[in-house]
Amino acid sequence: MAQLWGGRFTKETDKLVYQFNASISFDRKFFEEDIEGSIAHAVMLEKQGILTQDEKNRIVKGLTGIREDVKSGALEITEEYEDIHSFVEACLTERIGEAGKKLHTGRSRNDQVALDMKLYTRAEVVHVAEGLEGLLHTLLSLMEGNLDTYMPGFTHLQKAQPVTLGHHLGAYFEMFKRDSLRLKDIYVRMNYCPLGSGALAGTTYPLDRTYTASLLGFEGPTLNSMDSVADRDYIIEFLAALATVMMHLSRFCEEIILWNSNEYRFVEIDDAYATGSSIMPQKKNPDIAELVRGKTGRVYGALVSILTTMKGIPLAYNKDMQEDKELTFDAIDTVKGCLALFDGMLRTMKFHKEAMAESAKNGFTNATDAADYLVGKGVPFRDAHGIIGRLVLYCIEKGTSIDALSLEEFKEISPVFEEDIYQAVSLKTCVEKRLTIGAPGPEAMKEVIRRNQDFLKHSWLCEKI
Ligand code: ARG
Repeated sequence: MAQLWGGRFTKETDKLVYQFNASISFDRKFFEEDIEGSIAHAVMLEKQGILTQDEKNRIVKGLTGIREDVKSGALEITEEYEDIHSFVEACLTERIGEAGKKLHTGRSRNDQVALDMKLYTRAEVVHVAEGLEGLLHTLLSLMEGNLDTYMPGFTHLQKAQPVTLGHHLGAYFEMFKRDSLRLKDIYVRMNYCPLGSGALAGTTYPLDRTYTASLLGFEGPTLNSMDSVADRDYIIEFLAALATVMMHLSRFCEEIILWNSNEYRFVEIDDAYATGSSIMPQKKNPDIAELVRGKTGRVYGALVSILTTMKGIPLAYNKDMQEDKELTFDAIDTVKGCLALFDGMLRTMKFHKEAMAESAKNGFTNATDAADYLVGKGVPFRDAHGIIGRLVLYCIEKGTSIDALSLEEFKEISPVFEEDIYQAVSLKTCVEKRLTIGAPGPEAMKEVIRRNQDFLKHSWLCEKI
């Protein structure tokens, strides 16, 4: 057991207590952030005359060496230390002697861990946004290539009106775009440095917190030392954004699972992204889509867990907050993995365009357009609705579709119908007439694609990092 405290204790820590309390098995994940923060702290301490130049140099050299050795495998992070902070400080002192003991001047593990976690999650906000951006590029090129791939649009999982595959995928583009912008907002709001807040009440040393913040790429220092060590809002916001990404992926997966089923056959998942059955030789299962859908529960769990952990904690730091790490790390890794796999599955998926168009044709998705046709001929909409309702009933009984009826059959239901009804109810017309921005008509879609290309070209990731 190697601890940073012990002076006021007369007994050894119970072994189980030590294990229960220790965090090194998981906080080793931000080992590099701990070093980065410590280097910035040492540089600032020297600038303020709290460390000599020689001490600062030895500390920075020592920390850099530890970082290199851990990365190369020459130095192992072992569980004999309580946490990553103790490990780094102990190694440093072992390597450079007395100067190492001065690193923690004007610092507490409370502001140190707050910083490490912030540095780690700030980088991950960017990584998740990069994953989202990859998916947005895939979606946009699929949208561009499918402006006239007709398919049924659904409400209540009942065929409703014809849309295009490009338009349907465009709905997901908007969702993932909002996810990316949410991450941007979180990045901006979280980008303040807690280091220098000490245990809770600042320190008596003349620290330059603004300088430390700038060394670490923050907008500035946080403005209340108690809040600085007690705040985990940015983790909650990040997890909420991750939960939303998963919700979107999960809905998409659910659709792909339906589309990939024998009943729909709208798509076929590539062999590389599907799995088989140990007993049924004919099976090709959409396991990846199901797993992404399933893992959504796990990410929601992380959000609910941290919200619950935080809700009863008095100011300022309390050990409960150590619970923020494992679930956050797990949620981040889960979402990054799901985004990458989903993107690959989508890029390699085959879309059966004929099956989609056939399904749109056979589900009376053009019934609204048929009613609008009558309105164009002067029939009031309510009457037109009734006439087309009777027409649909006739088709259902006959087992046919609207566009397959003869003109005589149309006229039997209403004399208003003329030869131009066929053009009016074709999928092409139904889609092309929907011209307003946001609608599936090709002109509207082209404008949306142009705007979204622009969005990707001026990605917040380029301006930020
Ligand atoms: N392992 C702790 C955490 O994750 C680090 C902070 C420890 N501070 C303390 N006062 N015990 O929150």
